[in-house]
Amino acid sequence: MAYSAEFLQELADRNPIEDVVGEYVSLSKRSGQNLFGLCPFHSEKTPSFSVSPSKQIYHCFGCGKGGSVINFIMDIENLSFPDAVEFLARRAGMTVPERQSDPNSKRRGRMYELNRDAARFFYEQLSRPEGAAAVEYMQRRGISPATARRFGLGCAPDGWSALLDAMKAKGYTERELGDAGLVKRGKGGGCYDAFRNRLMFPVIDVRGNVIGFSGRILGEEGPKYLNSPETLVFSKSHNLFGLNLAKKSKFGYIILVEGNIDVVSLHQAGFDNAVASLGTSLTPEQARLISRFKGEVVIAYDADEAGQKASQRAIKILEKLELKVRVLTVRGAKDPDEFIKARGADAFRNLLEESENHIEYRLEQIRRGCDLDTPEGKVSYLKGAAELLSGLPDPASREVYSLRAAEICGVSAKAVQDEVAQLRRRRLAAARKRAQREDQRPEKLAQPVEGGIRYSDPRSAAAEEGVIRLLNLDPSLFRGIEFGEGEFSSPELWHIYEAMRRRVAEGGRLTPAELSGELSPGEFSLFTRVIQKPEAAENAPAALADYIAAIRRRGERGSGLLEIQAQQLKTKSYGG
Ligand code: UTP
Ligand code: MN
Repeated sequence: MAYSAEFLQELADRNPIEDVVGEYVSLSKRSGQNLFGLCPFHSEKTPSFSVSPSKQIYHCFGCGKGGSVINFIMDIENLSFPDAVEFLARRAGMTVPERQSDPNSKRRGRMYELNRDAARFFYEQLSRPEGAAAVEYMQRRGISPATARRFGLGCAPDGWSALLDAMKAKGYTERELGDAGLVKRGKGGGCYDAFRNRLMFPVIDVRGNVIGFSGRILGEEGPKYLNSPETLVFSKSHNLFGLNLAKKSKFGYIILVEGNIDVVSLHQAGFDNAVASLGTSLTPEQARLISRFKGEVVIAYDADEAGQKASQRAIKILEKLELKVRVLTVRGAKDPDEFIKARGADAFRNLLEESENHIEYRLEQIRRGCDLDTPEGKVSYLKGAAELLSGLPDPASREVYSLRAAEICGVSAKAVQDEVAQLRRRRLAAARKRAQREDQRPEKLAQPVEGGIRYSDPRSAAAEEGVIRLLNLDPSLFRGIEFGEGEFSSPELWHIYEAMRRRVAEGGRLTPAELSGELSPGEFSLFTRVIQKPEAAENAPAALADYIAAIRRRGERGSGLLEIQAQQLKTKSYGG
């Protein structure tokens, strides 16, 4: 990594973790030194997300995420390590050392600037005569000035060189404008604006860069939408319109729609979690992008056949990423925008809720399997419905749909409710038992919750963790010990140990900020969890000796096993 330890330390010093996290999570003091809040990385009702101002780390005891202030920004803003460093440097007003690694990074930075200036230009036209057509169009479509501002909507004037002239005056070259897809070169060699007489939607990536544009036709000429071509910074299939806003939504899911206008209209109505896929059908890359922020998607495509077909395709892609998927069908309107205009936000919320539980749909499926004209059919429906309803977490839904089920099969409400309550009690008891059993499995106790990491030997790993914890408390202990590669059972813990040892050997400190560049996010989370467990420094040398002995015992156990295996092999070959 190109950054010096001093730079990273200053970066961390100037961005106290409690301040930075406090901008995303409401933190409060519960007890001791740590601050607690609701984890922004998974949904929870009681706070298990902690921030330690003294250690300058965060850790969630629920989902296992953790790390330094840099890791936090990487996670929450979905940035790479260098991007997160840049983000924090900007926040603290520091200058970032040049990134030498990427020869295109200068050009990319320049294109972001150009795009931002172009977006500003388009936006400014709205308050000038040149933008009248766009303003009038937005009025007609019910897009408020505040919404236009939030999305940075604008107007590409009806001429050939409005943007070209303005950007040249700002010092951009025709070449640069061409590379960004904003101007085209004519047959005679002259340049002209690519977007003319269009309502402009800037496409903004999850880091807040303007990466391209989508322009909706205002006049008669050309296709309904024009999009930026693929450029150094823009790829249609890798981005989603509106995700820059939706990723920060308090809703735990994304609403996926077809049109830019649908996105704008939904946000205006309070559904600030809507995104659209820029005119392509949903791509796996877009799905992956969504999955970094939210675990659930409601597909709300157009009501026409094309929209329904596209929904089926999107479902398949989203399911592969283990995203929870629901489908919302707009009824009596062609798309979400039209629906909201006609019926209002509350009606749309109802659609969302209906799509949410699928209860009606599933009750109907059960009914189809039963002949309600016979007593046996009624009993069978009652049982099936009660089974379904007893699994609903929300008491109000259980109540409401019990009434519905009773109505459908013509029995008393009480009959259904009693059946549901009984099944529910049974369900809860079974869940409790299961949870108890789970908790008592020894390997469960010692397994990390960090994504993807599993200990092959939990007993040894516990000792390896102990070594890391002690060394973190007192790095001078490194002098007394020496491990060889392969002595740790966990490659992740070994990697952490090595990173710590290297830093100490180089005379560095073991602050999370300095280590964060050396470890993968998963390892870093593991590291922060390990060092959060209690450990007393007083008895460190003795404790360390115990840990080392435990780890070495594994080595012996391991080689013993190898011998036995070798012996078995011998017997086999001789016996055969
Ligand atoms: P729509 O035609 O549904 O557009 O196309 P819309 O945004 O909902 O606008 P209205 O409400 O009909 O006026 C859906 C999306 O498909 C892409 C655009 O991203 C658009 O938002 N598209 C559409 C194109 O890229 N090119 C086109 O010619 C048309
Ligand atoms: Mn549409």
